[in-house]
Amino acid sequence: METVGINGADNVSLSKDGKKVRIIDQTLLPGKEEYLELETLEELYDAIFELKVRGAPAIGICAGFGIYILANKSEAKDFEPFYAEFVKNKEHLNSSRPTAVNLSWALNRMERVVTENKDLPVDTIKALLRQECIRIQEEDIEMCKRISEYGLSVLKDGWGILTHCNAGPLATSKYGTALGPLFLGKERGMNFKVFADETRPLLQGARLTAYELDKAGIDVSLICDNMASLVMKNGWINACFVGCDRIAANGDTANKIGTSGVAVLAKYYGIPFYVLGPSSTIDLECKTGEDIEIELRDAEEIRSKFYKEPMTPDGVRCYNPAFDVTDHTLITGIVTEGGICYPPFTESLEKVGGEAGRKK
Ligand code: MRU
Repeated sequence: METVGINGADNVSLSKDGKKVRIIDQTLLPGKEEYLELETLEELYDAIFELKVRGAPAIGICAGFGIYILANKSEAKDFEPFYAEFVKNKEHLNSSRPTAVNLSWALNRMERVVTENKDLPVDTIKALLRQECIRIQEEDIEMCKRISEYGLSVLKDGWGILTHCNAGPLATSKYGTALGPLFLGKERGMNFKVFADETRPLLQGARLTAYELDKAGIDVSLICDNMASLVMKNGWINACFVGCDRIAANGDTANKIGTSGVAVLAKYYGIPFYVLGPSSTIDLECKTGEDIEIELRDAEEIRSKFYKEPMTPDGVRCYNPAFDVTDHTLITGIVTEGGICYPPFTESLEKVGGEAGRKK
């Protein structure tokens, strides 16, 4: 499978000198393909908070690289001050976005490398951290490949697919999750008709999903979020494929705001609704969606962003949750690198998510 992000380049990587994290600035797409090199704690925090790097797996990968470059710069010679600095950086990065569990998952993995090797010299720990963040990215690439294969196995040539937000190469490291099967199918000569929800308010569907699919030569039509019911009613959608930010033990799934509405509609029209994501997105410590923290973002994202002038009178209150939770009863299957989980999710997720949970 050759589809590898934008222009074949990694969207998150370590810079050549290994001292910076290199990302494509997703806020500038599709107009500009510009790369940034992040060097400081604040630059890393801001890049995640401002969605310059976004998508649950990509955030985790960026945080892994980030905590490594910060640790590598530490001048501490002894373990205690080195670890204290590490924890401070980790906590700050971890507070940049609350919903995608991949962020804390990757940071916790990096922390374990430090604590499990505390008797080794600090320089050795730094070298081990470098290996671990590269491993997190390599594993993500492998997981996305497998998710793409499993996802493709439930699709038929010529089908209409509706997707929400962006779960493509930009949101991961390569290939993507919800979009991965579509790229893979294309490589194998299959044709899909994809409907991409624009995904208000930050337009990940319009700016990123339409961009990635169009680049790959996949038939994509952009629709506003409120058009999903109509295209389903018209009989144009055979399956919905979406990504995920955190999956609770019972299958309740947090994903970009608007996802649960798509799932409700799909149920009404009898269309299968699949969630695709790596096992690192399964959080068995959250028993249900009630336990998932939903990020609230600035009102200006609704009021004025992307408009010449504010689109509502001054003083009007805006409610801007970045995610919602799709109830597990609306989900046909959850596609992971370990296979497709079907209801009852409490059992099927435990099988593939158990290991990821233990690694937390
Ligand atoms: O706010 P975002 O753009 O980071 O939200 C991203 C999503 O909701 C994606 O669907 C999810 O992270 C899966 S990415 C493979």
